[in-house]
Amino acid sequence: MDQYRVFGNPIKHSRSPYIHQAFAKETGQELNYQSQLVELDAFEQDIKTFAQAGGKGGNVTVPFKEQALALCDQVSKRAALAGAVNTLSFRDGQILGDNTDGIGLVKDLLDHKVTLTGSRILLIGAGGAAKGVVLPLLEQAPQQLVIANRTLSKAEQICQQVSDNRLTCCTFERTKDYDFDVIINATSASLDGRLPAIPETVIAGVGVCYDMVYAKELTPFLVWAKQAGASKVIDGLGMLVAQAAESFNIWRGVMPSTDEVLCQLRADLD
Ligand code: ATR
Repeated sequence: MDQYRVFGNPIKHSRSPYIHQAFAKETGQELNYQSQLVELDAFEQDIKTFAQAGGKGGNVTVPFKEQALALCDQVSKRAALAGAVNTLSFRDGQILGDNTDGIGLVKDLLDHKVTLTGSRILLIGAGGAAKGVVLPLLEQAPQQLVIANRTLSKAEQICQQVSDNRLTCCTFERTKDYDFDVIINATSASLDGRLPAIPETVIAGVGVCYDMVYAKELTPFLVWAKQAGASKVIDGLGMLVAQAAESFNIWRGVMPSTDEVLCQLRADLD
């Protein structure tokens, strides 16, 4: 049976094995998907050992996504821009890398009937998570995509690298100079129970606020956004499932449906 794994550290709480086994069942694909804890200095060795043993592919999670990029013989454009790989395929002795995080976010937003085409989007953060979603968001033809980051130079770097006239960057404070339809929090602030220091007035009246993080309770960013007047708030659980579906499709050539898995995961959070 074809073998797949998710590699990370920590890995115990990864939901990927559950998600991929559910996709396999739903689509009638025969495969086995396990998680593997990788010691911090053993990523390259562990991946090569798995590939040599006949593994077909894998997902990569924190903190190895950048190392995964370096290990690949070929990477997709979106993975190159993200500077990170979350999906590995082992084919003909080669390691192919892709990044499905951005398309996962876009899919989840579209599943929630969020209009991206023609919209003014604020992306908060300029780390790995933000970089991974810039190209897939631009592919949706927004009117404008503004990247705001605590450290402005990191946002400027992305703008220079992508060089698209719809893309601009600013400090948190200067987000006041724009109007937004959609705001996406790609910082890791929610993980520490913190908020990016976006002025509250920027949120008031915004159609949708999205946090890439998810938890049992609404994340601090989404609680704050709701209070500040956002019409709709969405967490990142759907993105997790959608990026997994994209990986599954890359490996198996079949796109699984995500609804049932998402419902089950949501119920399991409670
Ligand atoms: P990830 O892979 O999750 O994106 P990362 O590459 O370390 O992790 O990036 C973390 C992002 O969250 C950065 O944009 C970081 O801002 P800086 O570039 O200024 O460090 C942002 N971030 C983390 N904690 C934050 C906080 N409390 N307030 C605002 N931004 C925060």
